[in-house]
Amino acid sequence: MMPSSDNIARARAHSNIAFIKYWGNRNHNLRLPANSSLSMNLNELHTTTTVAWVAAAEADTLEINGRPADSAALDRASAHLDVIRRRLGIQSKAQVASTNNFPMGTGIASSASAFAALTLAAVAAQGGELSERELSALARMGSGSAARSIPAGFVEWHAGDAHETSYAETFVRRDYWDLVDVIAVVSRRHKHIGSSAGHREADSSVLQPARVAGVAQRLGDIKAAIRRRDFELFADIVEADSNLMHAVMMTSRPPLFYWDPLSLSVMQAVRNWRAVDGLSVCYTLDAGPNVHCICEAADAAGVIARLKDLSEQIEILQSGAGPGACVSPTIPV
Ligand code: PMV
Repeated sequence: MMPSSDNIARARAHSNIAFIKYWGNRNHNLRLPANSSLSMNLNELHTTTTVAWVAAAEADTLEINGRPADSAALDRASAHLDVIRRRLGIQSKAQVASTNNFPMGTGIASSASAFAALTLAAVAAQGGELSERELSALARMGSGSAARSIPAGFVEWHAGDAHETSYAETFVRRDYWDLVDVIAVVSRRHKHIGSSAGHREADSSVLQPARVAGVAQRLGDIKAAIRRRDFELFADIVEADSNLMHAVMMTSRPPLFYWDPLSLSVMQAVRNWRAVDGLSVCYTLDAGPNVHCICEAADAAGVIARLKDLSEQIEILQSGAGPGACVSPTIPV
């Protein structure tokens, strides 16, 4: 059921895949990240969220894909709505209805698109007009990577050292480089440890300071690689950065092992397809076993065919670079 009220708005935000990863916070309450990061929005994977501020309502409500959300999801959304209420100076509770167009339970993170869409719809429903920078910082409070789903295209999140200075902005437009994320879904199992808990563990790894110390260099190099559309350099940095994040995860206490055996098979195969077959493809993994095979659009069909040959267990999702979050003018009744 869609919410009903005068103070209503609907927004859409896209998921994103990070090429330079965010892992660990310097301030957990404000979600100020340990390092800056860089990502690409995913055109085909998005969340659409309707928010209605209802003065008479006694509590926030949340539906996800037409069904009432569980209490953990509602509590997290409600805590984020509290942040927005404080920022906008409002008291009303919210009715929220959210839909993901990508299959739930595929291990594809929905928190980035979910909190970006929730933030934009909640602000728009109140008639508020915040700058993109402010919206990005606000979305960050719900889920760090959501900050990167507010601006369009290829996006850099500046770590900053305060709420106002930790926000994301477009680095280059989505049509600057025709990259495709071919996602090899190797397992549908749910994450045993979600990223919020994982960020808290990052500092327990002796490798985290080394990973963070190298980010400025990798960020500079990847921006140069993107600017020049230099896939060889790009691939080298994307894989190194993903490996470093997973090395931190694996050496945290307790350790976090997100890969499945099939994840590693795909990673090794991707390196062969690049080195031997000459495909412009590289891999990166988030806090889960699915492998994002980032490739130039011309090689996407070749990557998909090879993934299918590798294992019939692999399901495939595919997306090019996407736009930023936007308010939708049409509200279904
Ligand atoms: O936004 P969170 O708290 O779900 O953290 C995202 C962490 C990674 O996906 C592993 C890396 C990233 O930068 O997106």
